[in-house]
Amino acid sequence: MMLYPFACVCAMVLCSQAAYADEEASIEHGRYLATAADCGACHTIDDTKPFAGGLKIGSPVGNIYSTNITPDKKTGIGDYRYEDFERAVRQGIAKDGSILYPAMPYPSYSRLSDNDVRDLFAYFKNGVQPQVNPNHATDIPWPLNMRWPLHIWKWLFASDSAEKPKSTDPQWLRGAYLVQSLGHCGACHTPRGVAFQEKALDHTDSDYLTGGKIDNWYAPALTGDYVFGLGKWSQQDIVDFLDTGKNAHTTAFGPMKEVITKSTHQMTDEDLNAIAVYLKSLPGKKNDTVLIDEPTTAQALAKGDTRATGAQTYVDSCAACHRSDGKGYSGIFPPLAHNPALLSDDPSSVISMILLGGAQPVTESDITGITMPDFAGQLSNKQVAEVATFIRNSWGNHASPVTEKDVKKIRESIMSSQKK
Ligand code: HEC
Ligand code: HEC
Ligand code: HEC
Repeated sequence: MMLYPFACVCAMVLCSQAAYADEEASIEHGRYLATAADCGACHTIDDTKPFAGGLKIGSPVGNIYSTNITPDKKTGIGDYRYEDFERAVRQGIAKDGSILYPAMPYPSYSRLSDNDVRDLFAYFKNGVQPQVNPNHATDIPWPLNMRWPLHIWKWLFASDSAEKPKSTDPQWLRGAYLVQSLGHCGACHTPRGVAFQEKALDHTDSDYLTGGKIDNWYAPALTGDYVFGLGKWSQQDIVDFLDTGKNAHTTAFGPMKEVITKSTHQMTDEDLNAIAVYLKSLPGKKNDTVLIDEPTTAQALAKGDTRATGAQTYVDSCAACHRSDGKGYSGIFPPLAHNPALLSDDPSSVISMILLGGAQPVTESDITGITMPDFAGQLSNKQVAEVATFIRNSWGNHASPVTEKDVKKIRESIMSSQKK
C-alpha cells in the first residue's frame, strides 16, 4: 500500500479537488434554495444566529416551535444523515420517527427534486454555522400533544403524488416547481380545510391559490380573477412586486413583506419570471366583472360632501396620503382604488392594516420604507368598520361591508398576540 505510483496519487489529488469544487457548488446552490424556500422565515428569529430555531407558531390546538436546523451536534441536526434530512424535509418525519406538525410545510416540500434536497443538505451540513440552542417542546396540552394522530393527518392530506404537468414549456415547469414546492406559496394563499390542511396542492384542483387566512391577514387569490386576483397584472407587474414589494396596483404588507425581503427579492430575474408565467396561466374562478373608474366619490369629497358613511373618517385620517380619488401617489402611497388587496371577501387585511399601520419593504435598492401610521388608538371599532366599508366600495371598488364585530375580533386577536 505504501508504493502508490506517482500518477495515481496525482489523479487522486485532482479527483478530490474536483469533488471539493462540486461540494462548494452544491453548498452555494443549497444556499440559494434555502432562500427560495424561505427556511429562515420560520427557523431564524435572531439574524445573528441563522437557523437556530425557536420561532413560536400558533396553531388551532396550541403553540409549536420551529427547531434548530444548524449543524450543532447536540441541539441541531449535526448528527442527521442525508436520509434523516430527506425524511424530515420531504416526508415530515423527524429523526426519532415522530411525525412533524405541518407548520413545517412538508406537503409542499414533498415535491422537491432529489438533487435539490441533496444541495440543501450540503448547505445545512457545511454552509451554516452551528448554533447551540435547545429545542422547545410544544405548548399543546395532553392528549392533543400526542403526535400519533398526525399519522392519519399525513396519510390523508400530504400525498406526494405530483400533478401531471399541463405544459412542457421549461419556463412554466420551473415556475410550477417554484410556486408549488420551494416557494410553498399555497401554504398561505390556498384556503385550509377543517383539519387545517391546504385544500389543494396544485392547479389541478380549483381551490388552489384562491386565497387563505394567515393570522390576522388575508393572502389574496393569485389566480386570474380580475377584481381580487392577478387578472389585470402583467407578467412584469408580478416580477416587480416579488422583487421590490411595489407596483402600480398595490404595495406589500403584513406577512408578504417578509416573504419578499427574505426570499423573493433575493431570487434571480429568471426565476421570478418563471413564477409570473406560471401564475398567469391560472384561470380565474368567478366570472367577475371589470372594474370601472367611478367618479362620484372623488367629486363628492372634492366638494366637501362627507355624508356617505365613513367618508368623514376617510377625509380626516386617510385622504392626505391616499387622496380623495383613491389613487394615492404613484411609487409613494399605494392606490386604494381597484387595489386587489382591498377587494377579497375576507376583509382581515384591510382591518389589520388600519389598526396596525405598516411600512413598505426595505431593500438595498429602495431604503425609504415609507410608513402608514396605526389607527388602533384613534379610531373605534365602529369607525374602522365604516371607513373600511367606505374604501371597499368607492371609486368603482365593490366588496362586502365590514362589521364592527369583524373589527372587534381582529383587534382582540392583535392585542392578545402583542401581550404574549
Ligand atoms: C412555515 C414555517 C417553516 C418553514 C418555511 C420551514 N420550516 Fe422546518 N420546521 C418548522 C417547524 C414548526 C418545525 C417543527 C415541527 C414539529 O415540531 O413538529 C420544523 C422542523 C424541521 C425539521 C425537523 C428538525 C428536527 O429537529 O427533527 C427540519 C430538518 C426542517 N424543519 C428543515 C427545514 C428546511 C430545510 C426548510 C426549508 C427548505 C424548512 N424547514 C422550512 C417550520 C418551518
Ligand atoms: C407567510 C404567508 C405567505 C407566503 C408563504 C406567501 N404569501 Fe403572498 N401574500 C401573503 C399575504 C398576507 C398577502 C397580502 C398582503 C399583500 O398584498 O402584500 C400576500 C400578497 C401577495 C401578492 C399580492 C396579491 C394582490 O392581489 O395584491 C402576490 C402577487 C403574492 N402574495 C405572491 C406570492 C408568491 C408568488 C408566493 C410564493 C413564492 C407567496 N406570495 C407566498 C402571504 C404569503
Ligand atoms: C401618512 C400616510 C398614510 C395615511 C394617513 C394612511 N395611509 Fe394607508 N398606506 C400608506 C402606506 C405608505 C401604505 C403601504 C404600507 C405597507 O406597504 O406596509 C398604506 C397602505 C394601506 C392599505 C393597504 C394597501 C396596499 O396596497 O398596501 C390600506 C387598505 C390602507 N393603507 C388604508 C388606509 C386607511 C383606511 C387610512 C385611514 C384610516 C390610511 N390608510 C391612512 C400611507 C398612509
